[in-house]
Order: sequence, then structure tokens, then C-alpha cells
Amino acid sequence: MTQGIRLDNLTYSVDGRTILREMNLLVAKGVNRTILGASGVGKTTILKLMLGLLKPDSGRVSIDGHQLCDLSEGKLIKVRSRIAIVFQGGALFDSMTVGENVGYRLLEEGRPGAEVERVVREKLSFVGLEDTIDRYPAQLSGGMKKRAAIARALASEPDYIFFDEPTTGLDPIGVYNICNVIRRLQAEGKTTLMVTHDLETAFNVSDRFSFIHQAKLIFEGTEEEMFSSDLPAIREFLEPTDESLFTRK
Ligand SMILES: Nc1ncnc2c1ncn2[C@@H]1O[C@H](COP(=O)(O)OP(=O)(O)OP(=O)(O)O)[C@@H](O)[C@H]1O
Ligand SMILES: [Mg+2]
Repeated sequence: MTQGIRLDNLTYSVDGRTILREMNLLVAKGVNRTILGASGVGKTTILKLMLGLLKPDSGRVSIDGHQLCDLSEGKLIKVRSRIAIVFQGGALFDSMTVGENVGYRLLEEGRPGAEVERVVREKLSFVGLEDTIDRYPAQLSGGMKKRAAIARALASEPDYIFFDEPTTGLDPIGVYNICNVIRRLQAEGKTTLMVTHDLETAFNVSDRFSFIHQAKLIFEGTEEEMFSSDLPAIREFLEPTDESLFTRK
């Protein structure tokens, strides 16, 4: 059985516009990947397709050899639980404390309160936020909110963790903290998949890179291969010039 998340010939459209066309991609277990691409190119959409939250027009998604379209709702939930996602905005519940945010899903599953509290403390401590357990999200900085969202994602002990723009809008120390957390997760054997347009973070935490341009995956490879690519879209992304000024819609 293939360990990893696989897209086979995947096409997806919104309102009659094809956002992703005939995409093939393997996120192999243990290979930490970043998908790069300009704003609006479809990065968040790929993550939602991989989780089965959106349905492709055609093509297949499989997780560790299970094709999502073949699974019953019950089995889909089980397979999906191998993956956790840290959403672009963090998406914490404002009316819950940080501790409740991290533990709510475990409580919903009926796990005993003492066990949930142990997991919540462990995951908050992993991201350096053990002191915030009784605070509300509104009382945290942007970087702390992102780390709390990571702690929440970790509560279910996923094998794969998706990060949607985890460092966008953070100051250098916030970026450093997030990269540090991601690298420690990788050292523990988790597979991370990030989507971002932040190159510094991408190169800091990833083994391999995929690049989307005009609905297609036009590149797959290492950082070195990316820098030596002569594809114009990649050159422009790595080193924007005056010639690319205002050419984007
Ligand atoms: N529900 C929707 N209805 C209509 N269009 C949508 C919807 N969701 C996404 N889109 C469009 O799909 C395209 C891809 O969106 P997506 O959010 O995946 O991009 P992205 O690469 O994550 O962008 P960003 O870097 O800004 O987060 C965009 O052009 C967006 O306008
Ligand atoms: Mg996005």
C-alpha cells in the first residue's frame, strides 16, 4: 500500500473556471513538501481536496492507498483523521479558552476529562504556550494564535499535518517560532505539507517543492533544482523584476 497522499489527474473548477487542471502529486510519507504559487492560484483549494472537503470534477485523491471517493462517510472520517490542518487564519473559536480549543474534539469523541487535560497540556507545552491554557484567543498575539492552532491540530495525533500559510503576517521571531515547531514535528516523524508564498519559510522547513502556475503543477523538485530552473514563472517568483510589474491581474 502506498504510504502518502496522492492526487491522480485531478481537475477542479469553481463557477465554470478551472482552477486546477490534471494535477498529479504525491506527498510521500516522511517527505516534507511545500506547494508554492502566487496568491489565488489554488493552494488552499488543493488542501481541501486532499481532505475530501471539496470534490474534484475528475481524477482521484488517495490517502495511504485509500481512494477517498470509494469510502463510506464513516471510513472517510477515520482516514481523514490521519491528517490535521492548520488553517490559513488559525480559525480558533473565540468563545472558548485556548485549552478548550485544543481539547474540544477529544471531548466530543468522549475521551475522559483527565486524559483530555493531559493531552491539552502536552500539546500546548510543545508549542510553548502552556501558560495560556485559560486565556481567550483575543488575548493572544498573532503568532501565539497560530501556535495554539497547531497545538489543536496535534491533539488528534495525526500522521500528516497541513499548514496553510503558517507564517504570513508574523514578525521574524514569530516566523522563527513556527519554523522551529514545524521542524520539531518532523523530527518526531510527522509528515508536513505546507502551502505558502513565503519562500523563506518554505526553504527553511521543506525537503521538496511543487510550484503551481496557471492551474498546472509546473515544477517538482528540491530547492537547488528550483533555483536552477529556467521556467519563466519560477524565475519571476524567485526574483521579481520590473518587467513583471503590474502584469498580474
Ligand atoms: N467558494 C469559492 N467560490 C468562488 N471562487 C472561489 C471559491 N473558493 C476559491 N475560489 C477561487 O479559487 C481560486 C483559488 O483559491 P485559493 O483560496 O485556493 O487560492 P490560494 O492559492 O490559497 O490563495 P492565497 O495565497 O491568497 O491564500 C481563487 O481565484 C479564488 O478566487
Ligand atoms: Mg490560501
